[in-house]
Amino acid sequence: MSRADAGGTPWWAGAVIYQVYPRSFCLADPDGRRRRLAEPGASRFAPPDGPLRAGVGDLEGVRRHLDHLARLGVDAVWLCPFYPSPGDDFGYDVADYCDVDPLLGDLGDLDRLVAEAHSLGLRVLVDWVPNHTSDRHPWFVESRSSRFSRRRDWYVWRKGRDGNPGLPPNNWRRAFGDGPAWSYDDASGEWYLHLFLPSQPDLNWSNPEVVEAMEAVLDFWLERGVDGFRIDVAHGLGKDPALPDLPPERAWLPVAAQHDDERTHPILRRLRARLDAHPRAPVALGEVFLLDATRVARYYGAGDELHLAFDFVPMFCGFDPRCLRRSLQQIDELLSPAGAWPALALSSHDRPRHRTRYGGSERRARLAAVLLLTMRATAVLYAGEELGLEDATVLEADRLDPGGRDPCRAPVPWTPDPDHGWALEGSRPWLPWPPEASTRHAASQWADETSILHLYRELLALRRTEPALRLGELRFLSSADPLVAFVRSGGGRSHATFCNFGDAPVRVPADALGSLGSPTLGQVVLSSLGRPAAHRDEPFDGVLGPEEAVVTRLAG
Ligand code: NOJ
Repeated sequence: MSRADAGGTPWWAGAVIYQVYPRSFCLADPDGRRRRLAEPGASRFAPPDGPLRAGVGDLEGVRRHLDHLARLGVDAVWLCPFYPSPGDDFGYDVADYCDVDPLLGDLGDLDRLVAEAHSLGLRVLVDWVPNHTSDRHPWFVESRSSRFSRRRDWYVWRKGRDGNPGLPPNNWRRAFGDGPAWSYDDASGEWYLHLFLPSQPDLNWSNPEVVEAMEAVLDFWLERGVDGFRIDVAHGLGKDPALPDLPPERAWLPVAAQHDDERTHPILRRLRARLDAHPRAPVALGEVFLLDATRVARYYGAGDELHLAFDFVPMFCGFDPRCLRRSLQQIDELLSPAGAWPALALSSHDRPRHRTRYGGSERRARLAAVLLLTMRATAVLYAGEELGLEDATVLEADRLDPGGRDPCRAPVPWTPDPDHGWALEGSRPWLPWPPEASTRHAASQWADETSILHLYRELLALRRTEPALRLGELRFLSSADPLVAFVRSGGGRSHATFCNFGDAPVRVPADALGSLGSPTLGQVVLSSLGRPAAHRDEPFDGVLGPEEAVVTRLAG
């Protein structure tokens, strides 16, 4: 697929990317799985048969539902890790960067998925996990084998603090579980660094061999035709070799949520140059989990680092107009002047789904969809949010994830039957179904034009046909709670979005017209609640129902 559209705008600017967590999307080919797992060595990294393996989705399940994505109208699909992995962090502990876990498929499945996505006009992003490997990765096995191993310096090894082998080298804490970001290796008498689980040792990006090896991984996937990368923990790569303590008042917070070292920027610049030199100009979408828009903005460099960086602040707002307006406005003020695009998502495989965070109300989830999909951003949807899915209830005995993230990873229901379109053959899915799965599934929602799925489809269609909504500039209107209103304009056209976060009807104040720069509030294009067709294209009377969002077209 080409680098950009005819106007020279890169495809990912203002695009909508659909995140698939393959384990939770659909299981389609259990025979293929049995065949692959029977091959000698196939299970060398996989956990033994049991809850981590039964009822897990596969790549063939993703391929079979690409038509759902195409019909929905997204631009690209981002596949979370499908690489061979022991599964301690469900694929984010990679044991081989250049293969597919036999549990999920093989390279042939991946190739078919990419080809079919392209034939449907969808781009494909894969997850690149450069900060750490699995401790079962042959690189780490070799590194750990001896202090004098050829690959010792591929990871971050240190002696204990002040030469005391009993003390971790610094005060960094790891993510997932409370503990130091260091583990002691008895055999070699040194500690290794891991920002995440002890089984996810950090690579040493100051070693040029590591850089080359990880670049070879990029090349491997580019040769297979992918269109870009979601970069895990992009802000974690550069590290001060002195590995200084964090100030005591911040040391309780996992280092992965605050690490922000200058040494990361040259690494990202080199990566960017490599991607930009590729004929397909693959996109670099980085996870920069810093919860501070100013810091995140620095990861765009001077337009020479990440193309897109997730800003997670809005994902940490509740159903709260003030928090959302403030964070979205700040992100825009930081990025727009440089022509940079924020990557915004409301849900992911790491956080409770936004419908759940907003108290379980579909009305609120609908408003949020309008807000996100008319915002100036490259929007990232998490599979199932277009169905209005909520988190599953996962009993303590069934919990699998060390980070407590099982509920948002519930399997996606496709059909009404008890297996919801998954080829489960009598086994249970790896996690419980989300609430209401027997009625809230893709099939019923495609059949119902008033469903939240059709709201998403309509929003995406509008974004495609109205360049102002995809690429236009953003201006927030001065409005008081519970109203958040903004205008997108470009190419001589303007659209306004009005969101009422309150639980009572609200009238758009008369002075909004002044800041709109329009004689009227415009013609109604859509409402989060679905307005009777008769009201469409009528002038907007300025009255919003409880928790309703309305998009209007302003007079040219
Ligand atoms: C961020 C990923 O989104 C998360 O799922 C993972 O556990 C950590 N990075 C570690 O790779």
